[in-house]
Amino acid sequence: MLTFAHLVVASALSLACAVAYYVVQRAKHELAIRKIGGVRAPSLASNPLTAASWFFSAARAQIRNQLLEHYTSFYDVATPECPDCVEIQIMPRERYILTRDPDHIKAVLTTQFSDFGKGPRFHDLWRPFLGDSIFTTDGQLWHDSRSLIRPMFIKDRISDLETFEKGVSALLNKLPPSGQTVDIMDVLYRMTLDVTTEFLLGASVDSLSNPQSEFARAFNDVQRIQMMITTVGPFEAFLPRRRYNQGIQTIDRFMMPYIEQALALPQDELEKLSNSDRHFTFLHSIARYTRDRRVLRDQIVAVLLAGRDTTAATLSWAFYELSRYPDKFARLRSEVIGAVGRTRTPTYADLKDMAYLRHTLNETLRLYPAVPYNLRSALEDTTLPTTPGHPPISVVKGDIVIYSTLAMQRRRDLYPPASEKFEDPALFSPERWEGWTPKPWQYVPFNGGPRICVGQNFAMTEMAYCMVRILQKYDRLEYRGDWHAQRHEAEVVGKPSQGVKIALYEESTKVVGNPVSLGI
Ligand code: HEM
Repeated sequence: MLTFAHLVVASALSLACAVAYYVVQRAKHELAIRKIGGVRAPSLASNPLTAASWFFSAARAQIRNQLLEHYTSFYDVATPECPDCVEIQIMPRERYILTRDPDHIKAVLTTQFSDFGKGPRFHDLWRPFLGDSIFTTDGQLWHDSRSLIRPMFIKDRISDLETFEKGVSALLNKLPPSGQTVDIMDVLYRMTLDVTTEFLLGASVDSLSNPQSEFARAFNDVQRIQMMITTVGPFEAFLPRRRYNQGIQTIDRFMMPYIEQALALPQDELEKLSNSDRHFTFLHSIARYTRDRRVLRDQIVAVLLAGRDTTAATLSWAFYELSRYPDKFARLRSEVIGAVGRTRTPTYADLKDMAYLRHTLNETLRLYPAVPYNLRSALEDTTLPTTPGHPPISVVKGDIVIYSTLAMQRRRDLYPPASEKFEDPALFSPERWEGWTPKPWQYVPFNGGPRICVGQNFAMTEMAYCMVRILQKYDRLEYRGDWHAQRHEAEVVGKPSQGVKIALYEESTKVVGNPVSLGI
């Protein structure tokens, strides 16, 4: 008969085995670190208890939209030899290396590209949402996805601006009368969803006309929960998944009819549709190479994720910052009117020629890179550099490197001293780009190396087009939100936590009241 004493002995034995396992595994990991020939990064936490409290405080900071401050505070424990990189050891073979060092980002993304990848853990965590798509895979699978997707982003396809015009004119129709408050972020998110679904599927979800779109809500929910699942690391199993799973079902229900429609086209008809055909969509392009519904679905959801929020959030931040600086808004508008007047739709060449517009978008992406936190898993034993003359950091196969372009691009020490020509780097100043180019790898909003954003040109064109059309119509912008409450909200993409409430004034409207508050 099982007695209490048996239970105590069994529990003690299990605990002893667990501790022994922990100690052996930890020793093996330590040995691996030494064998690689480098050292550990300065440590934030080195056991499951301290690591757990660290993960929960990170999740709390994320919920309170204070992740950047939290992430930056990690480097308080850094050392002069390794000033911008720290580590957290959770389980004996589970280690996170957190960095904001451009040399590390360069190593991970390009010079040691084959040593790092999304890795099996990221793949498994994201699989329900993004399947085996370009975002979740490495090696040949990733390479095949990239080859499948890239042809849709050639200049000829992007320079056809009709899809953008359709989206922006719908957005302009949704804006309230001159001088009334609107959350421009909300309409921008709806516009980029419509533009991206039109580009991908040949049919817009039309969320500008239908704000309660079930699909849009599901897509937002899934992204938010997915980011939380990723942030809490080893504790993700405790998070409820009901809303997440329901959201994925909604996304699939929406997507499948389009996929069926494309697959209903005989192969020879698909072949006949060429890249220059107006009705040739991203879906057609990939359906020529695969008839696998799951593959089609995964790639489309991945590009939708990549293309929708990134551009909407960047445009939202741009309007937020421009509303703080009426003089910069006026300068941008005068460039726009000078180039294309008040009504003519811009061409691709017009957009490329507007330097201040380009600087405005670059500056927005410097302060608010759309993908603020990213990670790579070590696929091999490898190293990351420290300051010259010191041993490198050993990175053991399976270790996760978390890098933040946001934290790196906010590092003051990476910029020239503030001067008349170069504003304090904490401030929004498109003018700084007139005489300054960032050093390589110190400005990477689109990543770099073989996995550089495939939609970069699409994104810059869409954002420039949208700004031009809005600025043609409106000559003044006023912030109507609470400057103090605004925070950086980091889901997969970083967006303004409060939306961007503004009033836009048409040129003919008589200006009343005080000019815009300059805020903080
Ligand atoms: C402001 C706009 C954008 C920014 C800042 C941006 C940034 C990025 C970044 C940082 C990555 C690397 C992600 C990773 O490491 O997994 C990425 C990848 C990617 N982006 Fe963008 N993106 C933008 C817009 C777009 C648009 C509009 C599209 C398509 C319509 C797009 C398509 C992709 C794809 C397919 C990848 C995966 C590339 C690969 O893994 O090989 N992006 N983007």
